[in-house]
Amino acid sequence: MKFEKLTPEKIKNKIVLIRVDFNVPLRDGKITETTRIESAIPTLKFCAESGVKRVHILTHLGRPRGENVPELSTKILVPTVEKFLGEKIEFRPDFTAGTARFQLHENTRFHPGETKNDPKLTQKILDGTHAEIFISDCFGAAHRAHASVVGAAHFLPAFPGLLLQSEIESLAPFVSEKRIPGLTILVGGAKLKTKIGVLKNFTKTAENICVGGAVATTFLGAEGFDVGESFFEPDHLEIAREILLEVEKNGVGFHRPVDAVCADDIDSAETAILPVEDISGSARIFDLGTHTIRSFSEILAHSKIIIWNGPMGCFEKSRFENGTREVLKIIAAQKSATTIIGGGDTLDALRKFGVDRDAFTHVSTGGGAMLEFLEGK
Ligand code: 3PG
Repeated sequence: MKFEKLTPEKIKNKIVLIRVDFNVPLRDGKITETTRIESAIPTLKFCAESGVKRVHILTHLGRPRGENVPELSTKILVPTVEKFLGEKIEFRPDFTAGTARFQLHENTRFHPGETKNDPKLTQKILDGTHAEIFISDCFGAAHRAHASVVGAAHFLPAFPGLLLQSEIESLAPFVSEKRIPGLTILVGGAKLKTKIGVLKNFTKTAENICVGGAVATTFLGAEGFDVGESFFEPDHLEIAREILLEVEKNGVGFHRPVDAVCADDIDSAETAILPVEDISGSARIFDLGTHTIRSFSEILAHSKIIIWNGPMGCFEKSRFENGTREVLKIIAAQKSATTIIGGGDTLDALRKFGVDRDAFTHVSTGGGAMLEFLEGK
């Protein structure tokens, strides 16, 4: 992928509009995970060091669907951005310009035109801010053709920010049509629907594909296993079978759970580790079983490149956290391998299990965006 790099000369004395993805998780009005904010700070600092006139920061937060939802106001982000940037931020409730060097505007998704990519909204942003340069640093949202994400690039000289650039450089080598020796992809999470493209792509390039989470349950269903009352996607059994055929045709190692931690309910205290052949009735799968963790760990320990997106089970509950925690630890321990992990839940898992981001070659700020990029979109 070719793009013109951002340099100090391009933005010196200019008014810069930057789209970031500060869509951080919130609980009870507090930010619970700050990776996305921290990751865009180098570009903001770069702007300051390059002598910009002003920087107008745009982001969405949550999915307010075109309405003003006070709990999703970006005002809540100001203290955290100030802390990491080390400079005062002026909050702007609209798209007009204030006086500070850095100005953070209200949630772009409070405007119905945002998700419709309405050029009138783009124009309003440009008129209000008087922006002369557009920087895209919102990798996590870059797969959305929304007004603030793509609109300004049609009117202003546009450059990728340092985060977007590093995401592209880290992920691009794995968008390929050819087999990549030593590559293992580990896919989990709730929905196969969002992972079909990436799995199909990796049936050509990966040496091993490991599946966990509810994604794996759909594959078990496709193989004809009774999955009890587990969550799976009946509409995707056929596509799962097609992926299994591709895997076989291409000689890729496909690994799905051989046992699972089951319970009748996510809050039930009673759990059992069952071989997948023994799951039936009211049992529901919530995590990888011990044999599966062992076999996935073996594969990961022998891989040269590991790409991981999506948790292996319902790790928010301590009795269902083993699969995700063990996989995370084994990937973090592979110092001679290239390790790339991504997805909002994966970042939550890092925080929960106290694993440092520096333990990995690249931690992507994208969930859906990482998957779509790796699909070659
Ligand atoms: C994300 O959290 O994946 C991005 O911020 C995009 O958000 P969206 O899925 O609501 O478009």
